[in-house]
Amino acid sequence: MRKRVIAAAVAAAAAGGIAVALVWSRRSARRWERAERIVQELREGCHTPVTRLWEVADAMASEMRAGLSSDGGSSLRMLVTPLESLPTGNEEGLFYGLEINQTTIRMLCVQLGGMDARVIKKHLAEVPVPSNLMVGTSEDLYDFIAAELSKFISAEELSYNIQDRRPKEIGVTFSFPVIQNLASNGTIIEWTNGFSIKETGEKDAAAEINKALEKHGVDMHVSFLVNDTVGAFGGARYCSSDTMAAVTLGMGTNAAYMEPLHAIPKWQGPHPMQGVMIINMEWGNFQSSHFPITEFDVQIDAESPKPGGKVFEKLISGMYLGDIVRRVLLKMAEETALFGDTVPLKLRIPFVLRTPDVASMHQDLSQDLSLVGEKLEECLGIPNTTVRMRQLVVEVCDIVAKRGARLAGAAIVGILKKLKRDGTDKKSVVMVEGALYEHYRLFRAYLHDGVKMMLHGRNLDNVIIEHSGDGCVIGAALLAASKSGHATNS
Ligand code: BGC
Repeated sequence: MRKRVIAAAVAAAAAGGIAVALVWSRRSARRWERAERIVQELREGCHTPVTRLWEVADAMASEMRAGLSSDGGSSLRMLVTPLESLPTGNEEGLFYGLEINQTTIRMLCVQLGGMDARVIKKHLAEVPVPSNLMVGTSEDLYDFIAAELSKFISAEELSYNIQDRRPKEIGVTFSFPVIQNLASNGTIIEWTNGFSIKETGEKDAAAEINKALEKHGVDMHVSFLVNDTVGAFGGARYCSSDTMAAVTLGMGTNAAYMEPLHAIPKWQGPHPMQGVMIINMEWGNFQSSHFPITEFDVQIDAESPKPGGKVFEKLISGMYLGDIVRRVLLKMAEETALFGDTVPLKLRIPFVLRTPDVASMHQDLSQDLSLVGEKLEECLGIPNTTVRMRQLVVEVCDIVAKRGARLAGAAIVGILKKLKRDGTDKKSVVMVEGALYEHYRLFRAYLHDGVKMMLHGRNLDNVIIEHSGDGCVIGAALLAASKSGHATNS
């Protein structure tokens, strides 16, 4: 009797176990189904077929025209930079460049040897900007810059054995929009990219830096100040006179190019360079009804310090790609409990997942995606992930990066179209600088693929999009060199 009771109890327990296992596996299947549906919706929302890419390129070309006609007439600022000259390759002497970007200042000293010798020697130093200075006053920031430049120059003078006693000239680039009526002065109209400087009134940044240099006893003068992408354009022209545009794809994004004066009806100022002007497009502000926008982009925009601003930058730049991916994963965690019954706390922290981490996960070539597993744990506090979960995460990274890269490519085609270079027999070079393009191989590949598809059958070989290694800081020094007039007559 006792034996029969035990047997019955064991049978009941086994049946219960099976029932629990069945419920569990049904719940797990539902979770996966739901998670996969979220990815599918994301894929559809981010879809960028060639027809849509052309719509974006056409919109870019017409926004450019509108922005050149009047200020405020377009989502693109199309700021005119009245440079007096562009580097030709003939420049000779020792020149300095300074770049103020998202997190660091980069100082460059370059010795140029004219057309044959070109860059004889160069030295670059990078110093992080203390975080308190990024949100302090411009005076404190320029003081810091002057002090760092003073150290840099003393070290350089020793190493180059400098005999030249002429006052040193420096070209400065900022990763912010600058309004100027001369290349030697400029007012920063918006401190972006992590800076939030308290500025009283409109100040000429070049004059302010010169004041700080004098205060620190530095025998140096800011000969001009431009936006970083304009600086990159100057550097790119030194490398190839076929350069039509320079593009920055980093934390922030932008494009600059050369426009004939007659195509800029809004410009009333001086026109120092023969018949052409450099335009800082501020393309991060580009807006078009053709953008594939998802609920995640809407959230990012609504929670940003400037909703409605920098719409294009929020879709394509290094500042935002990581956070778009994080938001998709958060939705999965909340709605499918894919990463456990409680949502990992870190997953709720905005910008905790950075684009370089997305790039590492996306480009993980290991069989079991072990790097994805490590990154999920380290950056988002999601431990013990299975290979299937990691594959889903990689897919999210792929969709987000692919959309950004193809839109960036479409915008480049838009510029070429505006310049009537989207299929001619003339060679057109577009130089791209910035860590997103340089270090995110798959992003770069998607950008190139998109452009190739768009320009298929239209003299594609004449459109060359390539990486400009030295970026804007050498551009700053080269622009200073071209302005100084120290050139050989070759
Ligand atoms: C800024 C531009 C800058 C770009 C690249 C954007 O956020 O508005 O002025 O050129 O980032 O650094």
